[in-house]
Amino acid sequence: MIPFIQNLIIKIIFILIIFEFFLQVLDFFIEKEIEKEFEKEIEKEFDSFYFFGNWKIQNPINISNNTFVNIKNYCIRKSSISRVYSQVNNKNNKDVWDLDLFNIKYGNPNNYKKAEKIGSGKYSNVYLCENKKYVIKELKPISLNKIKREIKVLEILEGKNNTIKLLDVFKNEEEEEEGKNQSCLDSRYHNCTSVSLVFEYIENINYKELYPNLTKQEIKYYMKQLLIALDYSHSKGIMHRDVKPSNVLIDHQNHRLELCDWGLGEFYHPGKEYIVRVATRYYKAPELLLQKKDYDYSVDMWAFGCLFAGVVFRSNAIFKGSNNSDQLVKIVEQLGFNDLDQYLIQNHLFLDSEVFEIVKYFEKKDFSPFVNEENQDIANQNAIDLIEKLLVYDSKKRLTAREALEHQYFQEE
Ligand SMILES: Nc1ncnc2c1ncn2[C@@H]1O[C@H](COP(=O)(O)OP(=O)(O)O)[C@@H](O)[C@H]1O
Ligand SMILES: [Mg+2]
Repeated sequence: MIPFIQNLIIKIIFILIIFEFFLQVLDFFIEKEIEKEFEKEIEKEFDSFYFFGNWKIQNPINISNNTFVNIKNYCIRKSSISRVYSQVNNKNNKDVWDLDLFNIKYGNPNNYKKAEKIGSGKYSNVYLCENKKYVIKELKPISLNKIKREIKVLEILEGKNNTIKLLDVFKNEEEEEEGKNQSCLDSRYHNCTSVSLVFEYIENINYKELYPNLTKQEIKYYMKQLLIALDYSHSKGIMHRDVKPSNVLIDHQNHRLELCDWGLGEFYHPGKEYIVRVATRYYKAPELLLQKKDYDYSVDMWAFGCLFAGVVFRSNAIFKGSNNSDQLVKIVEQLGFNDLDQYLIQNHLFLDSEVFEIVKYFEKKDFSPFVNEENQDIANQNAIDLIEKLLVYDSKKRLTAREALEHQYFQEE
């Protein structure tokens, strides 16, 4: 009798396991179907949506407890769109921004004799020409599309309003061969060419030497010129995406400022998602550090705010993170967690849990500790007010270049 009962129990357990397994499989397929239907529904209603799967996201319901929950959910939000100049490229002809319709016109390399190297960056080496009038920016082998984009952006800007003027473009044949051997092996780089861009030579003084010696009036003058360049490029539908001191050339003798390095320049289209690996760490806007892809011209205004604060406080950079997460930590240390929290909730963004643990109790600070004996007449009330209106998490509330130009700081004596 006992073996019979034992046998029966084993059979029942076995049947239950099979049944449970069957239910799990069924559940999986039903859930997939529901997800598909839901996605279709959302797509119909919204311009864009985000699916966070099993990612950790901040749950607005639990936010008062500062807790994180691991939820499987859909987060839906409309694309965020620039407050200004949002429709410029929609109104423009397609041939302004569509790189497939653009062919580079190459000049003659024999017109230029390169002399000593005067600069270099991630993407190029820059040489002075023998005649000391021009510089040659020799681009490192990169995709043809990226080269086209820099040239097209420079052509649209035409060197007006403190943007560097492109004079010529030529192919460097020796380099072309080198380029082919190096990067064309990479499948992304079909059609590899090494190209040189020719610009007017600006007798630039290194910012580390120049900025600490600028007077109050000179700072005001140059910052105004930089804002003019930014407002102009934004009005042309172009984001710079790498505003920082080494990309701002200043010929101090002639009081001339030129915004250079349009290598990360990009045409703005409302709601479009862009790569967030742009800008240099100390100048990266919070939205880039939070992986918000539908950013706009306002990333340049954050970078301008950082640059301006650095000049005014006579410090190299005000937020110096050792990596991207730490960069955000440095920002929150100054601007506090509460405003960031609001911004995350409103934009359905999430914060890395490790960063959250570090920053969750950070209080907003004012900028007065940055003021010292050396900078006190430059870092006046108006300058600090301008910094505070530029360095805000919410890119919609950040001043635009035009608004910054109208700020009291530029009106005072
Ligand atoms: N027209 C110019 N006149 C003088 N110096 C220049 C000029 N263009 C570039 N440079 C110098 O070369 C450096 C690198 O040029 P940039 O355009 O910023 O290239 P990258 O994309 O490699 O950073 C600049 O930081 C600057 O010091
Ligand atoms: Mg540069």
